[in-house]
Amino acid sequence: MNNFDVFPKKSLLFAPMEGITDEPYRIALMKTFPEWDHLFTDFLRVPTVGKVTERMIVEHYGERILKNPEWRKKNSFQILTTERAQTKDVVDILESLKMDHLDLNLGCPSKKVNSHFGGAYLLSNHKALSHVLKTIRSNFTGHFSVKMRIGYRDDSNFSDTLKLIQDEGVEAITLHARTRDQLYKGVADWSYIKKAVEEVKVPLIGNGDIWIAEDIENVFKETKCHSVMFGRSALKTPWLAKIYKDYVEDDGNIDDTYLLYERKKYLELYFDALMVEYRQIGWADNLILKRFKSFSRNLFDDYEDFETIRGSFLRAETLEQFLGHLYALKG
Ligand SMILES: Cc1cc2nc3c(=O)[nH]c(=O)nc-3n(C[C@H](O)[C@H](O)[C@H](O)COP(=O)(O)O)c2cc1C
Repeated sequence: MNNFDVFPKKSLLFAPMEGITDEPYRIALMKTFPEWDHLFTDFLRVPTVGKVTERMIVEHYGERILKNPEWRKKNSFQILTTERAQTKDVVDILESLKMDHLDLNLGCPSKKVNSHFGGAYLLSNHKALSHVLKTIRSNFTGHFSVKMRIGYRDDSNFSDTLKLIQDEGVEAITLHARTRDQLYKGVADWSYIKKAVEEVKVPLIGNGDIWIAEDIENVFKETKCHSVMFGRSALKTPWLAKIYKDYVEDDGNIDDTYLLYERKKYLELYFDALMVEYRQIGWADNLILKRFKSFSRNLFDDYEDFETIRGSFLRAETLEQFLGHLYALKG
């Protein structure tokens, strides 16, 4: 019997993303685009040596979110760990903080992470994976999910991995439908999401190349997955959840001109809200500018002259210049 109720069916989830989904980012997003049903921290790398402290955990999740019951309901904690790391110490702290939901990263393809036996590496070593899952499950009473890929080198142990994960008491699975070796190449193959839905009893969250409202509709129809998660697509269109909800309300009719008409307004709301939150934690303008430039790499693709536009944002020397370009954008 699965009682996974962290989010209802057909939820739209903002993916965990390193260097992006820190506390100020998640707060800005919840305030600006409340249509996102749920958000995740990026991964906390569980250390192998050194003391694990409560401060480390609270800072990663965000103290303001921790203290706000409404925000807490919408935010989950992700860890990345290995067989030898101090998983139990981290889980004990999450348990003492009464964290409702813990997600384990089994998808990170980084060479460094994998060579230290973490992230997607665990998909290729079932003994180590089983050890990590048992450590978490036997010490954590909240909801426990994993976020995985279809395999490490290839998909040959996909079904066995799903079974192992389910048998160890994991209550939901997010599947990024690529192998580790595929990194971000090609297009995610949603047929693996369908296969996983058929093979496991726990809720399956589909992820990978879900870019526009029609894709969301199609992935739900084709795979019957419980919910969907957005990474790069959410960075490209941070108001995508709003677009989809408008689309559903309007019986599946959405007109491209509507998206183009609204995008300037939403881009301004997005950056204004982010600026407020980064200033609140004391970031200087040059640090905010650096972060904004990194976000601008994923934006503006929908503009005809996107290369010129992106170039001007990337060349901005001050935050004022960056914001000047933003306010001068055409609708
Ligand atoms: C910049 C960046 C950082 C990411 N960081 C994480 C992370 O911390 N944890 C994780 O599970 N996945 C991480 N991912 C993977 C995404 O959560 C997602 O699974 C992947 O991008 C596929 O979805 P998409 O096609 O919608 O981008 C990251 C992806 C990007 C682009």
